[in-house]
Amino acid sequence: MPKARRRSAHRSERFEEMALPDELLGVLADQGLERAFEIQAAILPDALAGRDVLARAETGSGKTLAFTLAMTARFRGRKVHRKRPLGVVLVPTRELAVQVVDTIHPFARAVGLTAQLVAGGMNIEKQADAVARGVGIVVATPGRLIDLAERGALQLDLVETTVIDEADHMADLGFLPDVHDILAAIPMGTQKMLFSATLDGQVEEIVDSFLVDPVEHETTPVSAAVTTMDHHVLAIAPSAKRAVTAQLGARKGRTLMFTRTQLGAERVAQELVEVGVRAAALHGNKQQGLRTNVLAGFREGAYPVLVATDVAARGLHIDDVTMVVHVDPSDDVKEYVHRSGRTARAGAAGTVVTLALPHQISRTRRILAEAEVEPTWSDDVESADDPALTPLGGRTPSGEPAEDPALVKYKGAPRKLDIQRTRGADSRRAEERRANEERRASWEEEPPARGGGRRGGRGGAARGGAGRPAGTGSGKPARTSGGKGSGKPTGRAGGKAVGKGSGKPTGKGSGTPKGSGRGSSGAPRRRGGR
Ligand SMILES: Nc1ncnc2c1ncn2[C@@H]1O[C@H](COP(=O)(O)OP(=O)(O)OP(=O)(O)O)[C@@H](O)[C@H]1O
Ligand SMILES: [Mg+2]
Repeated sequence: MPKARRRSAHRSERFEEMALPDELLGVLADQGLERAFEIQAAILPDALAGRDVLARAETGSGKTLAFTLAMTARFRGRKVHRKRPLGVVLVPTRELAVQVVDTIHPFARAVGLTAQLVAGGMNIEKQADAVARGVGIVVATPGRLIDLAERGALQLDLVETTVIDEADHMADLGFLPDVHDILAAIPMGTQKMLFSATLDGQVEEIVDSFLVDPVEHETTPVSAAVTTMDHHVLAIAPSAKRAVTAQLGARKGRTLMFTRTQLGAERVAQELVEVGVRAAALHGNKQQGLRTNVLAGFREGAYPVLVATDVAARGLHIDDVTMVVHVDPSDDVKEYVHRSGRTARAGAAGTVVTLALPHQISRTRRILAEAEVEPTWSDDVESADDPALTPLGGRTPSGEPAEDPALVKYKGAPRKLDIQRTRGADSRRAEERRANEERRASWEEEPPARGGGRRGGRGGAARGGAGRPAGTGSGKPARTSGGKGSGKPTGRAGGKAVGKGSGKPTGKGSGTPKGSGRGSSGAPRRRGGR
């Protein structure tokens, strides 16, 4: 692990006073960015000097711009070679890859470079052609990058800086062997920078194998220390969950809801639409074009509620998300920190609400304690009329079905988009499951209507319930120290280089440990990110 650890002092330096090329200062000025955020001021001197960096800074604290400025400043005016980028940024999800490449583009252009997206679910030929023409920086999900390397479309032997964003998450997702292979193909001794709001022991194996005397910058000692974020827990009765979710969805402002499963995301989005709240689902089992479309619509404010799995928990920046709702509570503190971190970004205020069913209360208490946050805790929320929802801006939805925002095409959607596929297998399964649940729970004899008829007339979340006032303020978790994960290194012993040395992809694996997820051929897995 790193020798030099620096707890960054709080500072707010003007970009103009930093050692940045004029071209980059011009782009910053065009974007109205004047002062560096703490992590940016902290890492830039080391990053510009070519040192290896481990950077942990809270969600929404500007880590993307930090590595963007460092890379583009270092590569300013450099000649690029066919297939051989100078910089690689690895990210865990496709959506994040798109967002990061969009951030890098104007800065790269200003210093005479191009940046290219290399991510799964999108046209591989186009990505290969672009890389073949020569790009300065590649922003990639690990699986797709390996795909391109295996095809001989990309060589890593001239890479001078590698950034791994959400580095700890790569390990959580099981991408570590892929990342290992990619790093093994990049010349040793070149710059490596790892970023996350929760950088922890998970990355130890990478650090020990590939980084040289890294300097660690931490801008916060606490994993969930976003000071502008308010935390609430509603301890709810199972019968109230749907109505409470709808009440929160109907509030003013943009809300991002998280569910544990893909089916859950579809189901919650549909239930919201049915009672008049425009909501769409985002998860990894949706065709990429539909994922892109749904996210584009939410980003542009075309509809107010996005219901997502953890595919949206890391790194995504969506302006003006003022509330995050953990419809299904997080499984661990890191998940809580990252999901919650989709609000209260870059100094903005934001509210985080966890809906905890009785069996989820003790886990929720533990997670919040680990995160070192002190939530407003409301017990016994048995209906959507509960006064605990008033300060959260909860409103009773119309009860009339809304237009389904997943069936609209938004600017930024792929040109060829089969919107009808949104009514795909997932949503059908979700409808069937819900119909079954309703049949079981129903007091009435009448079976649920089929063939679209089920959209009308249900009381759903608009149903009030008894409205018993809740006892609030109790159940505050005790503060604990720590909150850092204790992920162990993977212990991966060896690995295969992706085009190492000559830049030629080897396409073969050796020394791959058990459980690394490779096929018997030893070829790297093709994940393409989530
Ligand atoms: N110096 C700055 N001044 C003002 N806004 C900034 C500055 N730097 C970054 N931002 C804005 O802050 C927002 C959050 O930045 P970013 O997405 O890089 O956060 P992050 O630290 O990567 O968060 P996460 O851990 O969630 O990935 C972006 O909208 C970005 O444009
Ligand atoms: Mg980020």
